[in-house]
Amino acid sequence: MYSIIADCLEKSFEVKAVDCVSFKVKKGSIFALLGPNGAGKTTLTGILTTLIKPDSGYAEVAGFSIEEKLKVREKIGVVFQEPALDTKLTARENLEFHAMLYGMRKKERDEKILRALKLVGLEKWENVVVEKFSGGMKRKLEMARAFVHDPEVLFLDEPTLGLDVQTRRIMWEYIKALRDEGVTVFMTTHYIDEAENLCDEVAIMDRGKIIKVGKVEDLKSEIGEGAVYVEIDNPQKYTHEFEKLEGVKEVTIGEKFIQITGNVDKILPMIFRVLNGVKVRSIKVKNPDLEDVFLKLTGRRFE
Ligand SMILES: Nc1ncnc2c1ncn2[C@@H]1O[C@H](COP(=O)(O)OP(=O)(O)O)[C@@H](O)[C@H]1O
Ligand SMILES: [Mg+2]
Repeated sequence: MYSIIADCLEKSFEVKAVDCVSFKVKKGSIFALLGPNGAGKTTLTGILTTLIKPDSGYAEVAGFSIEEKLKVREKIGVVFQEPALDTKLTARENLEFHAMLYGMRKKERDEKILRALKLVGLEKWENVVVEKFSGGMKRKLEMARAFVHDPEVLFLDEPTLGLDVQTRRIMWEYIKALRDEGVTVFMTTHYIDEAENLCDEVAIMDRGKIIKVGKVEDLKSEIGEGAVYVEIDNPQKYTHEFEKLEGVKEVTIGEKFIQITGNVDKILPMIFRVLNGVKVRSIKVKNPDLEDVFLKLTGRRFE
């Protein structure tokens, strides 16, 4: 069961912001679109939330074609990259206004608003005007607002942009809690660690194109390149033996260390075998991360 299906969506401004993008998002999962600034993430989010009309292609959200704007809008919640709260109103009034737009009656509104405020830990602040809120609190309130009307699919465009580490982690917990309630989450980010920690599947986007989609673990092991760094005496003695091992890409030696790159899962046991009986001062393993994946796929560093 998929909550989002995109088939060769395209949108051009002066540049091709979204270039034949296709993917599917499983119901009840967190899908992260990871890409550097200008990759096309906000434009793609705009298309899926029916705010931007694509030049071509097809997409379905919560079972409706994005051409059926009102049907889709009923089923989704959105947190935009740019804050969009009325700062003269209180937290509750902001949510109240939103709930009324969705046609909720008083009793339901009260219930849902309280639940949403609780989810993000703002229930004590419900009657405070938003201009008094910190950046993190505003972001939390926007999450609560996106969630008030029980959306099936939640769109979060860079939900933790500019937040401090601690608030970012709290936001991750909220996002996971929503997923665990069965909500499908489509989020964008340019933070590698956010994608690694949070999502069930990641799509790497660059220059309008999705260049890879999959589970983070699968993408990493497909790329496979990590490094093992061993501190030993006379490293040159072992260079040849390491070079012979299957799966080793490169061996670099220094005066007191040796670095072996390759698929860590594969080469590590063999490295231990070679080092059997050798006095090792320290051994460090660097597993590949999504940054390595991006580098491998694009030939550029992630910025
Ligand atoms: N309304 C617009 N008019 C002109 N160019 C735009 C507009 N929106 C986005 N772009 C361009 O499209 C590209 C993708 O932008 P965007 O979707 O905002 O990327 P991201 O969210 O990944 O940073 C960029 O080159 C940006 O300048
Ligand atoms: Mg953006």
